[in-house]
Amino acid sequence: MSLFKTTTPTGETRRWTLKEWVQGMPLGHPSHPMFVHFPVAFYIGSVALDLLSKIGDFAAAPHAGTWAIIGAWSGSLFAVTTGLVDWFGMARGSTKKRVATRHLVLQLTTFAIFVVDLILRWPDRHAAETKPLVIVIGLIGVGVLLLGQYLGGKLVYQLGMRVSTVRESEP
Ligand code: HEM
Repeated sequence: MSLFKTTTPTGETRRWTLKEWVQGMPLGHPSHPMFVHFPVAFYIGSVALDLLSKIGDFAAAPHAGTWAIIGAWSGSLFAVTTGLVDWFGMARGSTKKRVATRHLVLQLTTFAIFVVDLILRWPDRHAAETKPLVIVIGLIGVGVLLLGQYLGGKLVYQLGMRVSTVRESEP
């Protein structure tokens, strides 16, 4: 196995496919966990900035928090693409796929909650303080996000999900 080519179980040497590149196989480890930090940090950062606008003296915090949500979505482009490629390859009806599907639904719910958050905060993004309703919605979004992260971790650490061995037939 090299960065450009792999040897199949039958001894044949071939180039990595695009799907394998997206999964991170040429690097020797899954790519999805490399990208998940960006949406996580930006979503939590957005709510932290909103709280700071209430308890601190940082008038630009609501504006920065608004852009942090857009940053989370930019990072999600990579996290969602790599996650979906791994998810499509999982065996149908398996416990791992069921947990991965719940993980996917929670990530999409997080996205939807922050869409509402952004719509509500946009007109007041230059105000010195974030509205309490927006903060509550952001906290709910972070709660759902953390549940989704828990299931992602469960997939890897408890159920032993391994991208390198994922096959349609694996339970
Ligand atoms: C919505 C589409 C998504 C799908 C289908 C998906 C699917 C998966 C799958 C199959 C795994 C198992 C490990 C792997 O494939 O590398 C996983 C792990 C994980 N995912 Fe996702 N994911 C998605 C989006 C996200 C997003 C947006 C985040 C972050 C906000 C995220 C955070 C995580 C975390 C933290 C793990 C555990 C990784 C580890 O600790 O090694 N996922 N996901």
